[in-house]
Amino acid sequence: MSQLFQPFSIGPLTLQNRIVIAPMCQYSAQDGMATDWHLIHLGNLAFSGAGLLTIEATAVEPVGRITSADLGLWSDETECALNKVLKSIRQYSSMPISIQLAHAGRKASSELPWKGGQLLTIENGGWETVAPSAISFNDSDRLPTTLSIEDLNRIRECFVASAKRAVNIGIDAIEVHSAHGYLLHEFLSPLSNLRSDQYGGSLENRMRFPLEVFEAIRKNIPNNFPLGIRISATDWVEDGWDVSQSIAFTKALEQLNCHFIHVSSGGLSPKQIIPNEPNYQVGFAESIRKNTKIPVIAVGLITDPNQAEKILQEGRADLIALARGVLYDPRWPWHAAVHLNASVDAPPQYWRSQPSGHHSLFKKTIG
Ligand SMILES: Cc1cc2nc3c(=O)[nH]c(=O)nc-3n(C[C@H](O)[C@H](O)[C@H](O)COP(=O)(O)O)c2cc1C
Repeated sequence: MSQLFQPFSIGPLTLQNRIVIAPMCQYSAQDGMATDWHLIHLGNLAFSGAGLLTIEATAVEPVGRITSADLGLWSDETECALNKVLKSIRQYSSMPISIQLAHAGRKASSELPWKGGQLLTIENGGWETVAPSAISFNDSDRLPTTLSIEDLNRIRECFVASAKRAVNIGIDAIEVHSAHGYLLHEFLSPLSNLRSDQYGGSLENRMRFPLEVFEAIRKNIPNNFPLGIRISATDWVEDGWDVSQSIAFTKALEQLNCHFIHVSSGGLSPKQIIPNEPNYQVGFAESIRKNTKIPVIAVGLITDPNQAEKILQEGRADLIALARGVLYDPRWPWHAAVHLNASVDAPPQYWRSQPSGHHSLFKKTIG
């Protein structure tokens, strides 16, 4: 029997199968507010049959946006715009929806990726960025401002406030973004964190702020609400953040009732050398899974149903996330279900599309 299509629980939330749609920035918001693009994009993915749909990196404050078109959840206006999108989708799809809460740190103030993605000058619509230490991503970039203790207290509260807003609009799970060289990852990595206070230096000190953010969210949302984290398991740079430190971080998160660890990598340093091949991050997921009781999500160039199934069968991860593969083929879970002889949820309007020979592809339940 296919593992990929077995239900799985993250905390109190039961997913119909083990396919997770990874967060994907759309750079299509207006002043942080979701637009019709989000309705079309997320609506489309909400018909994919996946077990969980993750909303893109969503900024907890305006300076924490990667670009000026990032989605945000920092005000009544941004909450209302996202609520409207969710309400529309919920009329037609019962797929659980999570959101990734993020602060871009020194990688904020960037141009849209399809216009180059470079750090924007203030004159060209950019803004002052913030970071654990005044070290830029590229040597030639403007330096970020070092965050004071008061700033950290404020940003922690921004994460909490956004998490409360997410709960308020009926989001099913929250993923804290602590990967890809954004603010929380910048605290973890010794390459970007050169602080001499209690938030820098030793591993314990570098983990302090991300753990404080996680704990503050945990304490301020309903008891046992599905809450997990995304990490970069390694910087792919010598003397940077690595798997053994990720395992220590995971163990600390275990104490905070973390429901899942989404294991990505890289994004902190332009010096990274990443082997772009199938399963290139699965070994990290596997190492972390061996050392923790928290469910682990593997991601990164997993594109084939047999490949996904094998990762689960071999006990290397609990869940499989896809990003590019599901943009390319938004019915990937349907096709995987055909391949692995399993069933998916689909809207009744589409039931007649079931291929002959696969009479039980659609579960035919109206949820
Ligand atoms: C268009 C696009 C947007 C992305 N935005 C995010 C994001 O908002 N947050 C995040 O953690 N990763 C983001 N990623 C990374 C993906 O979630 C994923 O980890 C990565 O693409 C590797 O998985 P894949 O090989 O299945 O694409 C993005 C990737 C793509 C292609």
